[in-house]
Amino acid sequence: MNRIFSGVQPTGNLHLGNYLGAIRNWVTLQEDFECIFCIVDLHAITLPQNPEELHAHTREVTAAYIAAGIDPEKCIIFNQSTVPEHSELAWMLACITPLGWLNRMTQFKEKAGKHRENAGLGLYAYPVLMAADILLYRATHVPVGDDQKQHLELSRDIAGAFNRQYGIDYFPLPEPQILGAATRVMSLRDGASKMSKSDGSDYSRLNLTDDDDAIALKIRKARTDADPLPGTSAGLEGRDEAANLVGIYAALSETSVEEVCRQFAGKMFSQFKNELSDLAVERMGPIARKIRELTAETGHVDGILRNGAERAGVIAKRHLGEIRDIVGLLRT
Ligand code: TYM
Repeated sequence: MNRIFSGVQPTGNLHLGNYLGAIRNWVTLQEDFECIFCIVDLHAITLPQNPEELHAHTREVTAAYIAAGIDPEKCIIFNQSTVPEHSELAWMLACITPLGWLNRMTQFKEKAGKHRENAGLGLYAYPVLMAADILLYRATHVPVGDDQKQHLELSRDIAGAFNRQYGIDYFPLPEPQILGAATRVMSLRDGASKMSKSDGSDYSRLNLTDDDDAIALKIRKARTDADPLPGTSAGLEGRDEAANLVGIYAALSETSVEEVCRQFAGKMFSQFKNELSDLAVERMGPIARKIRELTAETGHVDGILRNGAERAGVIAKRHLGEIRDIVGLLRT
């Protein structure tokens, strides 16, 4: 049986990259897979969080899932910390994960920065908890943005290590699903860095909660170069900012970069930005309005999370019991 698991950290400033790289693809996939979508609050606390903001951001991510079109009847939506089996499995997997594998993780190096010795153990173990999220449900597919590729390879390695160690084919090796024309959306201010929640400049990203005016203003101010749009995608090489805007247009209009180049060949970016702005407002505006509506009535969102936690808990408990048996932890 095919089962999808994926998640987003409730760390605020949910942006277009999270939408195009992950959430939007989930909306399509929910038709063909059994889906579990998580708000990974335990991952969020690997870096300091303000407790009240963490509550608000957890509800905001939940609202964004629903506003984007995830159906909470069809899919399981819950926040990670309400199913304690994630942490228990993470410990068991940590016990079989070689340090050498974790030392290769580039995200840890980026996030820990120059102060590696002061970085928390949780930040280091982050990818093991991510493997536990996926493997706890014996998920077969994981739709994510391009930046999660390395973590997913590690999840596959950990699944394989477990199966080998215990001589059993228990965990499927999860397949990454990196889909669409914008698997790596870049900053609107600098085409060489990823659009990210933590960028100091709000002009670097289109937030999923931005209103129509903010979307239009940010696109107008986005960096580009002085050349017109090329007729083919080859003409975008070495033009990071231009390639990013064309990629965003292609993803939002559900076509290819090649097709967008054909459509706008020879046009100036000032004109293209107007078109992109209209498209972004048309696609993102309704999502922002729905998020605002849903976060205004926390009872509804909390009910969805409660229901999701119950449903996820049933699967998690069953699997963790089986895993305990495999590992040899006595169940009384
Ligand atoms: P997070 O919260 O950083 O990102 C959530 C999703 O958004 C994608 N993404 C992007 N896609 C395209 N362009 C961008 N600029 C961009 N920025 C972010 C990410 O690839 C991700 O799919 N570790 C995960 C959360 C996680 C998880 C899991 C995911 C925890 N456990 C289990 C899948 C399965 C993360 O960093 O999320």
